[in-house]
Amino acid sequence: MTVVGARPQFVKAAAVSRALARTGGFDEIMVHTGQHYDDNMSSIFFEEMEIPRPRYNLGIGGGGHGAMTGRQLEQLERVILEQHPDLVLVYGDTNSTLAGALAAAKLHVPIAHVEAGLRSYNRRMPEEINRVLTDHLSDILFAPTETARQNLRLEGITHEGIHVVGDVMYDATIFYRERAREPSWFPDLSIEREAFVLCTIHRAENVDDPSRLQRILSGLRDADLPVLLPIHPRTRARIAESMIEVGANIVLCDPVGYLEMTWLEANCAVVATDSGGVQKEAYFHGKHCVTLRDETEWVELVSLGVNVLVGADSEKIRAAIVARAGKPTVPSVVYGRGHAAGKVAEVLL
Ligand code: UD1
Ligand code: UDP
Repeated sequence: MTVVGARPQFVKAAAVSRALARTGGFDEIMVHTGQHYDDNMSSIFFEEMEIPRPRYNLGIGGGGHGAMTGRQLEQLERVILEQHPDLVLVYGDTNSTLAGALAAAKLHVPIAHVEAGLRSYNRRMPEEINRVLTDHLSDILFAPTETARQNLRLEGITHEGIHVVGDVMYDATIFYRERAREPSWFPDLSIEREAFVLCTIHRAENVDDPSRLQRILSGLRDADLPVLLPIHPRTRARIAESMIEVGANIVLCDPVGYLEMTWLEANCAVVATDSGGVQKEAYFHGKHCVTLRDETEWVELVSLGVNVLVGADSEKIRAAIVARAGKPTVPSVVYGRGHAAGKVAEVLL
């Protein structure tokens, strides 16, 4: 039983579900918690990426962390009792991840966690709490890197269920790259290919603090390059509430599907983001990433020099964008060679 709920999990599940089908021998029950529910945050991914249709959609999105996670936990328990899965498979670090793992653990159903061992060491992030707890509940832990395995070891998780397999998001990038699609409205923007900043912002610590959000937007404005910002509904709401001014060089658009996002990543000059997944995708597409956070779980990218942490410091954001736009990156294989999902399927089998 695969439990997903938020956008990054659809991307990861797309790669692994395809590998499960290719390997054979599985009856995958896809369960969507409903954490993300807008068409452009959810159903577009299932359609474009050909992810198995959810057998259940629990329709539980919005609200506070406790309410959301608690309601998901209650409903997932019901679904697990109904279906008796041999294993529950969860991804990443959202509230849906934790709810899936906790529901399974209480019913003594084995848990596999894809993207285990990632740490920011910042317990103020809801995702850090979700990751730590999920890793400690899991029986099979798919770590993307040796660093992640080492993080698990430091917390006393040393059992034989840990497998370093690489990053399933790289598998997704490779598979869907050839299907990448230019957004139909892109030519109307008068933005040149390879001459714009692709930006996403949704992290709670950035968007729920108006002063941080203001400083990030000021840095983007001062960079004086066109910025395309497919805007998460949470961020759109916060900008509207706090009446923050968005610079004239910043073009807001609705969230895009994965195929259009892949095209934008492949055709931008530089990425600026607080997303976990988008940091890695920038690297997969050979672009520098200016990370709008104070720390990252994807430390390898910072060591390689292709990712720079600038927090919400306007001047650092401006300077990093100007310095890195259009600059080539050196290819390397820190997240595997695109066979992570196949390895996950083999281990599960
Ligand atoms: C969640 C994850 C975060 C992940 C992100 C991916 C948690 C704690 N956070 O953050 O780790 O990086 O997803 O995008 O699980 N909303 C809509 N429509 C939607 C989805 C959300 O309007 O389809 C709005 C709602 O007002 C909702 C708010 O966005 O309350 C926040 O959504 P939520 O899922 O709680 O958190 P994200 O910021 O999306
Ligand atoms: N993504 C997308 N459209 C967008 C923004 C992001 O398809 O408008 C994809 C992106 O390519 C990546 C995933 O969503 O595969 C990352 O999800 P997100 O940034 O929401 O969450 P995080 O990775 O930070 O948890």
